Amino acid sequence: MAVSDQVTTHEHDVIVIGAGGAGLRAAIEASATGVSVGLICKSLLGKAHTVMAEGGMAAAMGNVDDRDGWKVHFADTMRGGQYLNNWRMAELHAKEAPARVRELEAWGAVFDRTKEGRILQRNFGGHRYPRLAHVGDRTGLEMIRTLQDHGIHQGFEVSMEHTVTTLLKEGDRVVGAFGYDREKGRFRVFRAGAVVLATGGIGRAFKITSNSWEYTGDGQALAYDAGAELIDMEFVQFHPTGMVWPPSVKGILVTEGVRGEGGRLLNSEGRRFMFDDVPDLYKNQTAKDAEEGWRYVIGDKEANRPPELLTRDHVARCIVNEVREGRGSPHGGVFLDIAWIKEKLSNAPEHIKKKLPSMFHQFKELAGIDITTEPMEVGPTTHYVMGGVRVDANTQMSTVPGLFAAGEVAAGLHGANRLGGNSLSDLVVFGKRAGEHAAAFVKERGAGTVHNAQVEDALHEALAPMDEARDENPYQVQHDLQDLMQENVGIVRNEDDMAKAVEGIGALKARAAKASAPGNREYNPGWHTAMDLKNLLMVSEAIARSALDRRESRGGHFREDYPAKSDEYARHNTVLNRNEDGSMSVRREAIPEMRAELREVIEEQG
Ligand code: FUM
Repeated sequence: MAVSDQVTTHEHDVIVIGAGGAGLRAAIEASATGVSVGLICKSLLGKAHTVMAEGGMAAAMGNVDDRDGWKVHFADTMRGGQYLNNWRMAELHAKEAPARVRELEAWGAVFDRTKEGRILQRNFGGHRYPRLAHVGDRTGLEMIRTLQDHGIHQGFEVSMEHTVTTLLKEGDRVVGAFGYDREKGRFRVFRAGAVVLATGGIGRAFKITSNSWEYTGDGQALAYDAGAELIDMEFVQFHPTGMVWPPSVKGILVTEGVRGEGGRLLNSEGRRFMFDDVPDLYKNQTAKDAEEGWRYVIGDKEANRPPELLTRDHVARCIVNEVREGRGSPHGGVFLDIAWIKEKLSNAPEHIKKKLPSMFHQFKELAGIDITTEPMEVGPTTHYVMGGVRVDANTQMSTVPGLFAAGEVAAGLHGANRLGGNSLSDLVVFGKRAGEHAAAFVKERGAGTVHNAQVEDALHEALAPMDEARDENPYQVQHDLQDLMQENVGIVRNEDDMAKAVEGIGALKARAAKASAPGNREYNPGWHTAMDLKNLLMVSEAIARSALDRRESRGGHFREDYPAKSDEYARHNTVLNRNEDGSMSVRREAIPEMRAELREVIEEQG
């Protein structure tokens, strides 16, 4: 049968792959310029990891503390990222985030308010001042709802429950994508002059994760296969607090908002162990001094800023340490207690339910715990990848012409460690920029030509798991990969374990090449899993190889064999490329010198 009889072609100026905060914002912006836009999502529209950024959206609006401003936010982001950040992205993000919050409000987002009626902002780890505009503990959900409501009036075509397997190219540039609809398995070609990747993260490469089934590194793998560079894939964020019990919900996120509202981390001895490992700056202070030096607000009362709000990499490692030393909770985590705030607030139970309604519900329904009276059990969960597709800071274009990336799939803004709340603002700041510049690219360059031979190759690759000679169970391969990554490339890493992971990934690739999905393409989840494997294996190899290459500890990347930071790696990104023969090349590249006035900002902010 001719290829053209097996595929349906959609034609757009711009296609956006992924419909979380970044994808929706990019689609809205591109549409606003008058080009035709197709939005493709793996799930139903509205189901995105964006909703897992629960606690808020970081933007230096200064509504709660007027000392805040873009300079402090910029400096906090750079310090949190251990100065590996793309400083221009950090500058744009800090400057533009407040306007993006106000825009969401104008489009209907209902943020929590201060007594004076301004958008309320809460504390989060690594942010000097209360900075997270929020909607209880459902901020990401409200962002998606708002963008969706606004977006459906913009006239873009939405293809829900579609997986993209290949980007199509003409020469160097991208000219579209090949994929299929997940329900019936019908093949699609999306022709487009520019493509925006907004597919999110890689969490499903690990066993314990806050990410749902969609997050298999699709965008990172699509870009890499199309010749784009990836950077800093070793930096994976393990959020300190995921549920650890019951087993069926292990990894589900417990928002940092709990700690932002005063939640305390305790070990099995009832000790606030975070005081045992505060940074040098606080080393000589007593716990009480340290507390008094860090002020924040619970309800409307001034309280003390706790070490529970140190950056996520730090807190996650302290939790692992407590568990390893035998001071963990019964199910292998530690305790997180918000109920204690009754000492500060007479209406504590109501306050907790008002500020953390999803957490209250989540623990009540899933674990039978009332968080207004009992502590939660929590432990680290794979949440986010700081590395990803290398992009131009201003335009979000990757190293492949016509291919743009925004949100988690793109790298740069967060450096070695992302501050909580910086992802929601990242999505809209850079989603907008990606949409705008993708549209401009098409206007300048026009549509390219899709070549049938590429479509044919993509089609054959997609059909391969139906080959009867294959005999490997794709679910088993995925399961074994998750175990391998969790065990060997997790929070605490070393050379031997990671070398074992690289070797294991090689063996799993051979098994994945035999992954079988018998039957036909309709309603065939085994087929989807077989297709996801290629991406999961690619991003896993990228993480393991980059992590092996960085012989130091920094941010989300901690090596017990090299526990200190090293000057050799201090100002370098890890860059990944696909070689002609399909192997992966890893190299180190110096980060461009920061502009003098930004250096001054960092010096000023201390
Ligand atoms: O803990 C949280 O609410 C997550 C926020 C984020 O990842 O930005």
